[in-house]
Amino acid sequence: MNPDPTPPAPAAGERTPAALFAGYYTRRTHQLWPRPDDPLDALARYALLPHGKLLRPRLLLLCVAALGGDLTQAAAVAAALESHHTASLVHDDLIDGDTRRRGRPSVHARFGTEAALLAGDALLCRSFADVAEAHHHGIAPRLLLDVIALAGHTGADICRGQLLEDRLRTDAACGRDAYLAVITLKTAALLRATCRCAALISGADDTLTQALTAYGQALGIAFQIRDDLLPYRPATAEAAARAGKPLSSDLRNRRPTLPLLLALEEAGPRQTRRLHRLFTRAGHHPRARTRLSALLRELGAVDAATTLLDAYVEQARTHLQALPPTSHREQLHRLTYAMSTS
Ligand code: IPE
Ligand code: IPE
Ligand code: MG
Repeated sequence: MNPDPTPPAPAAGERTPAALFAGYYTRRTHQLWPRPDDPLDALARYALLPHGKLLRPRLLLLCVAALGGDLTQAAAVAAALESHHTASLVHDDLIDGDTRRRGRPSVHARFGTEAALLAGDALLCRSFADVAEAHHHGIAPRLLLDVIALAGHTGADICRGQLLEDRLRTDAACGRDAYLAVITLKTAALLRATCRCAALISGADDTLTQALTAYGQALGIAFQIRDDLLPYRPATAEAAARAGKPLSSDLRNRRPTLPLLLALEEAGPRQTRRLHRLFTRAGHHPRARTRLSALLRELGAVDAATTLLDAYVEQARTHLQALPPTSHREQLHRLTYAMSTS
């Protein structure tokens, strides 16, 4: 149990909820993992700070604000969801063999495999405790039970998605539906749960809850398509620096992503053979990677993937129309639209 009072949380009406959350999150992390000389606290702090884009907490708080809910109550839950997300990244880097995250060594690269496994487990377990303890901030325990159940099912979905992705390794013939099934589980599930959680703790009715759930799912699919397009965007060096992680990971792990799958839908027999050959080599040979990128662009596959990304963004924006027209809804529109443009 953690009976300590939470640091002051962002209040509606002061700057944007998202801007205020970053400071709260840092203070909260130090409070939850207080001892830098304790090995587990040190690992957790390394994984959690400096933080990333805080997309899930920003989403949760904006949705809660748009529904007129209580931001002080929501902030503790938002921090717990970020911990859940960070746990998935720590384990994902281990699975993908990626040694960089957020511009510095990933947890397993810095501290080793065992430490990364345990850090991920601890962050995940602690996120459930943090949700349960949010009753100290006035959220009704029965609502928190729903959030805990949602987070548990979502965690299982993420694992299901990662496992399915692993089974599709090297399978360039798997097709776009298999790819969409993977990303719906491994990535969209948590964004979907984040938005649904906002509706639950704000006491939204069924219609709004369903709209926000559908919004989170469409946004999550768009988000992963965008992430998978990063290696094929022109300013790769700059994008890589901004991403703070290796953009060659999917190719090195021979994971078929949307641009390749869409190219194979259009390719003739010769191009198909060439795509398969380049896909096999591109993970370890920079020249093959450059040729694959050029061929994907030539076949219109990068544009086609961007068009599909835009379609999910539009789908997400449509679901937002169910919310009352407030400045917070506008901020959600802008955040959603940025998936297409950033
Ligand atoms: C990375 O998520 C994993 C994906 C779902 C693509 P983020 O891009 O939200 O990672 P951080 O938290 O900002 O580092
Ligand atoms: C993102 O996996 C989903 C999870 C972390 C569960 P990716 O492997 O596509 O994300 P990055 O590229 O490592 O951030
Ligand atoms: Mg990864």
